[in-house]
Amino acid sequence: MLKGKRILLVVAGGIAAFKVHELIRLLRKQDAAVRCVLTEAGAKFVTPLSLQALTEDKVYSDMFSLTDESEMGHIQLSRDADLLVVVPATANILARMAGGLADDLASTVLLATDKPVLAAPAMNVRMWSHAATQANVGTLTARGIRFVGPNDGVMACNEFGPGRMSEPVEIVAAIEAMLEAEKPAADKPLAGKRALVTSGPTREAIDPVRYISNHSSGKQGHAIAAALAQLGADVTLVSGPVTVPDPAGVAVVKIDSADQMLAACLAAGAVDVAVCAAAVADWKMAAPATAKIKKQAGAAPPSLVLTPNPDILATLSRPGPKRPRLVVGFAAETENLIANAIDKRTRKGCDWIVANDVSPATGTFGGDRNTVHLISAEGVQDWPTLSKERVAMQLAGAIALHLTRPRPAEAAE
Ligand code: CTP
Repeated sequence: MLKGKRILLVVAGGIAAFKVHELIRLLRKQDAAVRCVLTEAGAKFVTPLSLQALTEDKVYSDMFSLTDESEMGHIQLSRDADLLVVVPATANILARMAGGLADDLASTVLLATDKPVLAAPAMNVRMWSHAATQANVGTLTARGIRFVGPNDGVMACNEFGPGRMSEPVEIVAAIEAMLEAEKPAADKPLAGKRALVTSGPTREAIDPVRYISNHSSGKQGHAIAAALAQLGADVTLVSGPVTVPDPAGVAVVKIDSADQMLAACLAAGAVDVAVCAAAVADWKMAAPATAKIKKQAGAAPPSLVLTPNPDILATLSRPGPKRPRLVVGFAAETENLIANAIDKRTRKGCDWIVANDVSPATGTFGGDRNTVHLISAEGVQDWPTLSKERVAMQLAGAIALHLTRPRPAEAAE
């Protein structure tokens, strides 16, 4: 979705600048045009040559270079971009932006631009929490600058806390969300609609250190949340423990167990559509141990006494005034895919089932592609094998079509 978009990276001087190479690679993979403005301090961390090789474009650094300014003035650099990203956004460049300084090419472009600006802060934890930096972030936010991160983590200075720059994939997701938000209303058929998506596995505690879970990666559910948000929906994503990044522009509620997932779904309030893509554990421990279960020499292994988990999809599908207009479930099957999925739709009371074969040979669990069949009251639609993102976009499109159609009662009026 970034094809043909022009991204201007303002690369400032911080150790996190090394992540810019990967960011450029990800943007170029999507056929975005990337150009860099490199500050003097930035050039101490990454070389103009590496940026030039990766962007296949000239790197701009010098405000007073006759060649730079005559070829491409600071105003033109901004005009030629769809979006600017300050990466890494150091305490220094944020302060210069907040103060309206224009003392080098980077700060001048940032002052002169009327394009959306995203900043990816990276600095020592105390510099980030310093009142001066927080005041600058507040000023810039009020002026419409958007921020991605910083994340918590161990930093190059060996301290732990907020200040670590977001990963390149997270920055790309934030860029996509900002460019989506710029799109005209016609591209947002789900504007004003609320969506709930469940994603990832659940973890059911055996004792404080062990759990029962499954291989779900959350890739499909997260992609659906992102796709619904791209179409303008106000999305709440309730996610079990996953390593995929949070989709940008989506409210994410992180949970562990099925009980917590159900509670979070109910707390999300009334929604127009619910998509249950989570691989919820069917059973939990009847009585999880409160202390670590110890091995007893010579004793038999413990038996795990299980009890069923609540069925979140079935609960959300129950008829009633609060029922979402559309409830979509997934059927992960390893045999008799269509027959089992049709039966599951009736049993759970949902409107649609997205059926997919998760036998190990298909590589669906944890993989990037998916072959699905959409089962509704109208019948079965077979979709071709698509990336999980394309499946998500196609499903979000079908949901938009359904929700923007008049209800049967309205149509009859
Ligand atoms: N689901 C749910 N809550 C559960 C179990 C499943 O919300 N406790 C949802 C899943 O998110 C998915 C659908 O129900 O949308 C079907 O999940 P699946 O694991 O395929 O079905 P099961 O209910 O586990 O049925 P079976 O074990 O018979 O395959």
